[in-house]
Amino acid sequence: MPATTASSRSTASSRSGTQDTVAPRAETPEERARAAARDGTAPAGAPDFAALLHQDPEIAGVLLGESTRQSDGLQLIAAENFTSPAVLAALGSPLGNKYAEGYPGARHHGGCEIVDLAERIAIERAKALFGAEHANVQAHSGSSAVLAAYAALLRPGDTVLAMSLPHGGHLTHGSSANFSGRWFDFVGYGVDEDSGLLEYDAIRALALERRPKAIVCGSISYPRHMDYAAFRDIADETGAYLIADVAHPMGLIAGGAAPSPVPYADVVCATTHKVLRGPRGGMILCGAQLAERIDRAVFPFSQGGAQMNAVAAKAVAFGEAATPAFGGYAHQVIVNARGLAQALAGQGLTVTTGGTDTHLITADTTPLGLDAQTARGRLAAAGIVLDTCALPCGTYPKAGPGSTVLAARRTGIRLGTAAVTTQGMGEPEMLRIAELIGAALREDASARQETVALAHRFPPYPDRA
Ligand SMILES: Cc1ncc(COP(=O)(O)O)c(C=O)c1O
Repeated sequence: MPATTASSRSTASSRSGTQDTVAPRAETPEERARAAARDGTAPAGAPDFAALLHQDPEIAGVLLGESTRQSDGLQLIAAENFTSPAVLAALGSPLGNKYAEGYPGARHHGGCEIVDLAERIAIERAKALFGAEHANVQAHSGSSAVLAAYAALLRPGDTVLAMSLPHGGHLTHGSSANFSGRWFDFVGYGVDEDSGLLEYDAIRALALERRPKAIVCGSISYPRHMDYAAFRDIADETGAYLIADVAHPMGLIAGGAAPSPVPYADVVCATTHKVLRGPRGGMILCGAQLAERIDRAVFPFSQGGAQMNAVAAKAVAFGEAATPAFGGYAHQVIVNARGLAQALAGQGLTVTTGGTDTHLITADTTPLGLDAQTARGRLAAAGIVLDTCALPCGTYPKAGPGSTVLAARRTGIRLGTAAVTTQGMGEPEMLRIAELIGAALREDASARQETVALAHRFPPYPDRA
């Protein structure tokens, strides 16, 4: 039986015309929130772990196990972070019950007047945070955002220039296993295999030769800032749209710690998780002239009803990202990544491009005599969680084409500092993490225990530790 809150009682009684003399009238969201803060109430249906434990111990045990796993190790997956309890509260809220096809003020369902507020707030906060004319906050994921961008600007069969997957492109940048590779003619550009850096002259030459309808700039593993102005010039020279897929650096951009593609790209796609520290989801920014095409490409073209709990959680995350504290966080993420990259080089790994501008580091483990898969396994055994990735730069003379040795050398490990920085770790801890990584790769038996000890000093949710 859902509990009745003071605010909902007040709303119900005012509708029926009988004034509740105990609870104040609570008309605006702020008034409702103040009343709830005073009375200590939560929305009916807010997350109730005791109820889950009682009703479904099996799944409750999964939640507990994952929570323990997240706090007992080092979470270095570059795409992950720890969202705030406020974001989690919005995500687990009764807004998830509401169907809301369409956009605020123009829904295909009734009863959207409250969730409309959430979406309007999310849109306004996103526009202000990133200086964009238009924001769509409904994309269910980063991939859905990219799909919508393509749907808005392209026709099946169009040529698109994007970073090739072995050099750091995402699945949505032309993988044959993805809609992108199936429906469009993707041409891949890459990095210089010795420096690991993007070669803008080569990208320009390729664009002039292939005359793409769109150019995508963005990557899952490029550790340096991209030159969005250079991409804009190339797009202008070749008559292409410019789509920036900045899923990774979006949080750094929000915190003023990385350059923004907003002034340059026709469409900016991103995820709201990763460094941005919001709920898992996507977002799209564009100029006013493309606003309607983008909105239609999300709904009704590629999605149905928006997930209003996620939209509200995105609004919370944008609010957090607009604070000076988040700016400090974003800069610290980079300071930490730079320190960690340098310390990893000291442990014998070859760090791609010699360092990083962002939260993200890629490194070759072959100098330690380890392929990336083995390295990831040893690290996981020590409680250090990260990814393997394609690595275009050989640190050794290249073997012949088709050689399996070359394939092994072309893989690396990818790690990021977003989550550990949220936990409050700083430069001294980055040096310690590099030592622990070195120890785990050498299969030093103490690595696991010492990793847990470090992680326990920085619980992701200190109030609940
Ligand atoms: C550049 C880029 N684009 C798109 C995506 C897709 O995001 P999602 O996993 O939310 O679909 C990612 C995810 O890592 C990414 O890095």
